[in-house]
Amino acid sequence: MPEKKQKLPTLEIHGSASKKLLRKVTLTEISKKENLMRFIKSQGLPLASSCDGEGICHLCIVNETMVTCQMKVEELPAKGQIRKVTIGYL
Ligand code: FES
Repeated sequence: MPEKKQKLPTLEIHGSASKKLLRKVTLTEISKKENLMRFIKSQGLPLASSCDGEGICHLCIVNETMVTCQMKVEELPAKGQIRKVTIGYL
């Protein structure tokens, strides 16, 4: 009997301006605990910031309202195993 393939937890990073899927990353238990801003930057994507992650400038916002420097990857709402980030200016 064939085993049912289980989907892995994934983070999709989309660009709103480009209308492209910029990255699709499989999440580990460790990466889910990472700061979201640092995680996005570690994927080679530029994320604006002028307060160096102190939560003041709000340049690092994704999904229109989420301040990435103040949250963990696992705090993104998940649809099944997929979490999604949309960066407005990319
Ligand atoms: S980097 Fe300034 S609020 Fe997040």
